[in-house]
Amino acid sequence: MKRLTEFDQLADPTFSKAVIDWQRSHGRHTLPWQNTQDAYRVWLSEIMLQQTQVAAVLGYYARFLERFPTVHALAEAPSEDVMAHWSGLGYYTRARNLHACAKRVVQDYDGVFPSDPALLADLPGIGRSTAAAIAAFSGGVRAAILDGNVKRVFARVFGIDAYPGLKPIENALWRRADALLPEVAGNPGAIEAYTQGLMDLGATLCTRSRPDCGRCPLQARCVAFATGRTAELPVRKPKKATPEKRTALLVVIDRGEVLLEQRPPTGIWGGLLSLPEVGGHVPMDEDEALVCTSDVAVAAGPFGTIDEVRPLSPLVHVFTHYKLHIAPFAVTLATRAELAPGHVWWPLETIGEAPLPAPVKKLLLDLAQPSLFG
Ligand code: ADE
Ligand code: SF4
Repeated sequence: MKRLTEFDQLADPTFSKAVIDWQRSHGRHTLPWQNTQDAYRVWLSEIMLQQTQVAAVLGYYARFLERFPTVHALAEAPSEDVMAHWSGLGYYTRARNLHACAKRVVQDYDGVFPSDPALLADLPGIGRSTAAAIAAFSGGVRAAILDGNVKRVFARVFGIDAYPGLKPIENALWRRADALLPEVAGNPGAIEAYTQGLMDLGATLCTRSRPDCGRCPLQARCVAFATGRTAELPVRKPKKATPEKRTALLVVIDRGEVLLEQRPPTGIWGGLLSLPEVGGHVPMDEDEALVCTSDVAVAAGPFGTIDEVRPLSPLVHVFTHYKLHIAPFAVTLATRAELAPGHVWWPLETIGEAPLPAPVKKLLLDLAQPSLFG
């Protein structure tokens, strides 16, 4: 008996049939880049549609083609002219790549886009999925697309339980995409209808937030629908762990007053008063030595003659972009030195009124109990 390869196991001709039948009766057929085999027009539409919705592309597409009707016209145009006709569409790298691609097609291919998806994918601004779409729409070439919309449809239909942006998951999705392609021999228009059908399904039915499963031709085979997990699939991109940093703060205390320092106007705690800091916000993974009591004594030297340095309980503060571990040190003085500009002695009694960052204020309020510093 013939052994089934993974590819055979993934193949399922009823899948493409469902997509093609739906596309022919419910998909989009009158978009200006459809019903043409002109690779220049197809290419231009696919680049414009990469990060932009159909409705926003329509006007730009018409004006662009009017000004640059052929790949030669585009290749010869000054880049300012190309940028001006892209202006407002966003993601301007696309426009620069578009211009570079047109020049390459003229130079390397005599102005005729290659039909091989591998050659297309070698041109500026054309990734594997866009190359397949251009080859399929302009030449009926049997090649698989896998853009963001198709990834979402596949993740839901096949119940893919991992983030599709992960390389091994993406590779597995490409193998599925290849295996699911319809046969094209004796099936004119099948690859075009299938490719457009997948795009239309993802854009109009299987949308990110509210998929219209009631109208979906894949509902009967959709794992996400069957298990009520359309809201959970595709799996979201895992959040990066918050970076952790550490710092040491000086709590210089003398006769019921605490020494505060003006923060620079911008950056963390910009413009507030705070405690003098030793060593800045150091990333936790750097093996710079932790601040010790003798470092603190040196740092506090300018404020007076040190009586005693004592570590206090550490605290953690969470910013939007990182987590700060704060090691506070209490420093008591024998004598005060003259204060440098930007410093102030503030009575602990009224510390609640000082313009301080929340974690610093909490630390000082805890310390302000008269039993500790009367
Ligand atoms: N998005 C990307 N390519 C598309 C196309 N050919 N039609 C509609 N939306 C698309
Ligand atoms: Fe998407 Fe719903 Fe169709 Fe599944 S049944 S593919 S979730 S629209």
